[in-house]
Amino acid sequence: MDNQLQKDLWNGRAGASWVRHNSLLEELLSEPGRRCMALFDLPSNAQVLDVGCGCGNQTLEWAARLDPSCNITGVDISTPMLALAEDLKSANESSLQANVSFVLGDASEALFPETSFDAIYSRFGVMFFADPTAAFGTLRSTLKPDGQLGFVCWQSPALNPFFTAPMQAALTVLPPLPPAKPGAPGPFGLSDKERTQHVLSEAGFAEITIEPLQLELSAGAGRSFDDLFQELIQIGPAATLIAESEPPLAEHARAAVYERLGEFYSSGSGVRFEANFWLVSARR
Ligand SMILES: C[S@@+](CC[C@H](N)C(=O)[O-])C[C@H]1O[C@@H](n2cnc3c(N)ncnc32)[C@H](O)[C@@H]1O
Repeated sequence: MDNQLQKDLWNGRAGASWVRHNSLLEELLSEPGRRCMALFDLPSNAQVLDVGCGCGNQTLEWAARLDPSCNITGVDISTPMLALAEDLKSANESSLQANVSFVLGDASEALFPETSFDAIYSRFGVMFFADPTAAFGTLRSTLKPDGQLGFVCWQSPALNPFFTAPMQAALTVLPPLPPAKPGAPGPFGLSDKERTQHVLSEAGFAEITIEPLQLELSAGAGRSFDDLFQELIQIGPAATLIAESEPPLAEHARAAVYERLGEFYSSGSGVRFEANFWLVSARR
């Protein structure tokens, strides 16, 4: 199974949206990334892989934390997102300590030599594999003996209004979608705890722990709702659905999303969403 659909998506609309709204997304999502980093206990000279590194924000955060003897590699299938990652690397050179490199490629393929890494990290970058067991098996083989995998991913849509509130609002206007296949590649590809446990254990991992993490995501303090909405309406699955709809319906859907997202906004503190994640850790 290949990941062509995801390659098209992340080199197309989704990638462009993440590049355009990188600052807002980082404001929303930096805390789950930090919580995931705290899972790791790294050796000196650590070799770290950031899977699905996107625009490289987390890769660069690792590089600011680790010492100069360490290497951090970000891998991603998206050319536009990696282009921003390279720009951010140049712009932040003075704050980086560890060596950073970015690699364009499909992380489910054998891109790296076996036993290369002490740690494989990912913030929301490992839920998109067409064959997760095979992909995690390949990633596992690149870990050193006793190397650690740690990632953060979304729990179910029902527990994450950041996604569901705009989608439900859009669907009051737009035709219903076919039901999503459980475990299909996408933001909720690893939202089922038991399935994730099974996938990782089939891939050969040991000492698997999957812990819930609840946070409040917030962004846009001091910005007007109209200003924030111009960005929020272009992010996530509802944005794709609206963009692919006929203009008159799309306008109604935008208005419905505007009403609904307004419920998460307050002047002064911007938007706030309760969010639920899984923090996952395992050893080779
Ligand atoms: C939701 S974004 C997260 C990006 C980044 N980790 C962050 O948190 O800002 C998912 C990322 O996974 C990447 N991705 C999806 N499938 C991939 C694959 N098979 N190999 C490498 N990267 C992949 C996408 O291109 C995208 O950059």
